[in-house]
Amino acid sequence: MPRSKIAGIGMYVPENVVTNNDLLKYMDTSDEWIQERTGIKARRYADRTGETTTTMGIKAATIAIERAGITPQDIDFIIFATLSPDYYFPGCGVLVQRALKIKEIGALDVRNQCSGFVYAISVGDQFIKSGMYKNILVIGSEKHSFGLDFTTRGRNISVIFGDGAGAVVLQPTEKENQGILSTHLHSDGESAEMLAMYNPGTHANHWLPQKLADFNEVEAGDMFMSHAMIDNAQNFPFMDGPAVFKKAIVKFPEVVTEALAANNYKASDINMLIPHQANLRISQFVQQKLGLRDDQVYNNIQRYGNTTAASIPLALCEAWQEGKIQEGDLVCLAAFGSGYTWASALLKW
Ligand code: UT7
Repeated sequence: MPRSKIAGIGMYVPENVVTNNDLLKYMDTSDEWIQERTGIKARRYADRTGETTTTMGIKAATIAIERAGITPQDIDFIIFATLSPDYYFPGCGVLVQRALKIKEIGALDVRNQCSGFVYAISVGDQFIKSGMYKNILVIGSEKHSFGLDFTTRGRNISVIFGDGAGAVVLQPTEKENQGILSTHLHSDGESAEMLAMYNPGTHANHWLPQKLADFNEVEAGDMFMSHAMIDNAQNFPFMDGPAVFKKAIVKFPEVVTEALAANNYKASDINMLIPHQANLRISQFVQQKLGLRDDQVYNNIQRYGNTTAASIPLALCEAWQEGKIQEGDLVCLAAFGSGYTWASALLKW
């Protein structure tokens, strides 16, 4: 059975750099608070009307396709991971198919938030291993800047997130020392509402814990999207940051260790760990827990903030472009986020 290799990788971040100090215009926060709690110094925001999640994804994808030495016509399946799609439906995958004038292939959208890219890679890996497809385009892209609460009320979330996109092309490889060794996917829906965007949705407050339902002010039977929701700013994401943080620092090391154990490796064998860029403090905790040196972990949250489904391909691409990942290196991707979902992938570059 062939393995899947990353045959090409690309990234795109919008030009517009937004520093922590730039956010002071909108909310009561400080550069010091943001850097101390998250490590973030700046993030990028897409052009409000000129760029979308899909257009950014296409820019990253075009580079990945070129680096794989193929053309869009060679792509035989598209997987698009995002939580900020151009439309509520259809997904972004079909928009990529249309824009790149790819033939009538399958296009799948993955909704696993921060773990979305690793989930997407895992799905692509199964199609390659089964022999069904030969050139799978996997994209992670987010335009968060369009859907955040930029008032002080939303500051615990809005200072963290940024826009950007990353993409890879997966192809089969028969080389002994190359490709995805294994992927590991997990979920625990018990705390689904701790990091979520409730509206618009069909939940009618059915699942919300009482204190959140009271806050949400949407009556059962209310419309999918109502004036009250907008008036009360309930169309923005909600996050219980400390609760997510506590779970993340347990599940990140666990899922990395699981991937290593499944392939008879130790943490010291990792050449590069690419953690989802949720918070620099989380990455540092994971590094310490696994006993990794600084050169074994790549972080770029300082420059881009948390770009959810785009964060792993962005970090992987930058690390590779900087020459920090070489052929044959053992690379581990790991993510945790809303759902909760968490996942890892271990691969030989
Ligand atoms: O990628 C998806 C997964 N997401 C994550 O993994 C995020 C995990 N969580 C976190 O990264 C952290 O919880 C945050 C960075 C979101 C928040 O940091 P924290 O240290 O957990 O802060 P907190 O939410 O406990 O808030 C502490 C204080 C509060 O004030 P009081 O009640 O102590 O007076 C907040 O109101 O900090 C205040 N605060 C802020 N102050 C200035 C919250 N956001 C801000 C802000 N600027 N942007």
